[in-house]
Amino acid sequence: MPDPIELTLRHQMNSRDERNLLDHTVQGIVGSPLDRPEGPLKVRGTATYADEDHPPGTVYGWLVRSTVGKGWVVGLNTSELRAMPGVLAVIRDDRLIRNPAQGQAGKAPYQGPAEVFYKGQPIAVVVAETMEQARDAALAARAQYDDRTDKGVFTPERASYETPPKKQATQGDLDKEMDAAAFRVDLEYTTPTMSHSAMEPHAAVAWWEDGQLKVRGSYQMLKHNVEELADALGISPKKVRILSPYVGGGFGSKLGISHEAVGAAIAAQKVGRPVAIALHRRQVYETTMRRSESRQRVRLACDRDGQLTAVGHEAWVSNLPGERFSEPVTQATPFTYRGENRLIGHHVGRLNITAAGSMRAPGEAIGVPVTEAALDELAEAAGLCPVELRLRNIPDKDPTTGKPYSGNRLADCLRRGAESFGWADRPQPGTRRDGEWLIGMGMTSAIRVNMLENSAARVTLAADGTALVETDMTDIGTGSYAILTQIAAEVLGLPMDRVTTMLGDSDLPASSGSGGSFGAASAGSSVMLAAQAVRDRLAERMGCDPGELTLKDGTAIAGNRQRQIVDLLAGDSLQGTGEIEPGTTSQDHRQACWGAQFAEVAVSSVTGEVQVRRLSAVFATGRILNPKTARSQCIGGMIFGIGQALHEEVMTDPRDGGFVNRDLAEYHIPANLDVPHIDVEFLDDRDPYANPMQAKGIGELACCGTAGAIVNAIANATGKRFHHFPVTLDKVLAKLD
Ligand code: MOS
Repeated sequence: MPDPIELTLRHQMNSRDERNLLDHTVQGIVGSPLDRPEGPLKVRGTATYADEDHPPGTVYGWLVRSTVGKGWVVGLNTSELRAMPGVLAVIRDDRLIRNPAQGQAGKAPYQGPAEVFYKGQPIAVVVAETMEQARDAALAARAQYDDRTDKGVFTPERASYETPPKKQATQGDLDKEMDAAAFRVDLEYTTPTMSHSAMEPHAAVAWWEDGQLKVRGSYQMLKHNVEELADALGISPKKVRILSPYVGGGFGSKLGISHEAVGAAIAAQKVGRPVAIALHRRQVYETTMRRSESRQRVRLACDRDGQLTAVGHEAWVSNLPGERFSEPVTQATPFTYRGENRLIGHHVGRLNITAAGSMRAPGEAIGVPVTEAALDELAEAAGLCPVELRLRNIPDKDPTTGKPYSGNRLADCLRRGAESFGWADRPQPGTRRDGEWLIGMGMTSAIRVNMLENSAARVTLAADGTALVETDMTDIGTGSYAILTQIAAEVLGLPMDRVTTMLGDSDLPASSGSGGSFGAASAGSSVMLAAQAVRDRLAERMGCDPGELTLKDGTAIAGNRQRQIVDLLAGDSLQGTGEIEPGTTSQDHRQACWGAQFAEVAVSSVTGEVQVRRLSAVFATGRILNPKTARSQCIGGMIFGIGQALHEEVMTDPRDGGFVNRDLAEYHIPANLDVPHIDVEFLDDRDPYANPMQAKGIGELACCGTAGAIVNAIANATGKRFHHFPVTLDKVLAKLD
């Protein structure tokens, strides 16, 4: 086969997209609720996840972890372990990492396992012929410590807080306005440490071939993960290849390279065989990442007409010493509502507890439900309908920076949501009963920033009229395989089954990876550009301008001329590379994703149990590429919100910071019976400043608010306010008469 004819299309997002290509193509695939092409593999169990498909000769590693909360490892019963059945190596190596890399870090996290920063921190790796032998030896490990647990800080109350100057902001005079305003609330909320709890535990298998390292792992952002792993090992990124074709959920816990990959790579080098390390569920909880707990103070004031005049939002979160990430709790507060007097505060405390990192919608996921719950209390104080209070306070432009919105459909979402949910039927607080059940309704706005990241993809149209999409993008359950296949098929005018998509291999063109809800927009735009490069070549061969070309079902049409695409190819294959880059539209416009959510709950007056009876949401978040995968993402996000409102809470031992509930039996997430029917509606929307597809983020938006709608509904049902998440039955019972 001759070499493909190549073309690159690079696009930086520096101006409003006028072309709106996907509204002019006619294949009719983008915007259709198509099935995931890899779905059958997943349900039949033949999709190979990280800890499957081991190379021949694979042996097994198991992490040895600290039993103290702070201190130094000064010895290990290595020779005893070495003598145990099947044991091949006991590895204490300074290159092992303390905690996973933060998202997009691109370099190794803190290294050196001798210093212990938290209970459960990996301090060594045992390698053995079988997984059982490795685990047996790891459980027999006895480390000697210079134990400084008495110097550790394990509770937020005892932490010393840093106040990073760049994360504080003030406008006007909040205190003065709070005193002067007609109505005000000054409230304190807490949200607990939470765990991503992805279905697939973290795992990696590593092997070396001719000085090259290969890793099959479960990661979200391969281009960064290659750099992180190479940096941890002290080798060139060119020598590292990571494969993550299927990822069983991430939610941010697999953004950065983790212990198992670094440990497996070091071990594989040492024993000269492939090494697999799969984390036990408890290890996932204790050694990967958590969402920080938060304490939040919210001050709001409005005038007699319900116009917000003061908005104060201060947050206290935590992380390990030296970690740069801190949950950006107040992220949406500067731009969502009016209020000329504004104060944003951010404080990060240093705790000797498992690293805090990004978890689905870092920031808004716990910040929005809290501000939205406080708004509900302000609405009550002002005697206003909560929807009306929000509608009166949607600004024309970002009230902090004065920049225009790229698009703001919050009002449309609120009105449409209120109508379809039947909000007008909301009872007076504490007045509706159904037997022992107190019934209430609550609502929230849903807000999440929108982002675009550098992303590249390659699309090859083969001489037989089939196409191949290639990028190192990952599919963490989100639907990347589906939408990227759809985008290429749409632009090339091919049926879905003539396009194949290859993902999750770091040797392929470097994408944004999956994170921050920017995956579809970023990787999708790069695939669109790559396919467009091929399409432009087809236009040349048709002798027409690209704008005059129509491609459908393998046929090229220009004016009254028609040719089969395979005939135009005439034995050639065409290859396009697409590269999208963020540009000035990310800076000169406030880009965000919008929604409104409504909840109906029933609260048992006998047990305090809260049942969510209905959840309903309307989102406006740009073009919807696939309504089926988009809806699934939103349902998943809203279930995340149920967990946050009612169930999820990591409890830590105040004596040493250890996790007390650290598996799926004890860390409660919503089960089927906790989840009612969920309605999701998307408004027909385009955002021309976001990217050339005019699509925006979805995966995180849906969980930004839900918990607020639920606590507001609980307040409506019971007439009582709850400020500490999750609202478990003991807290409810204590307040019921
Ligand atoms: Mo996300 S928390 O960037 O996977």
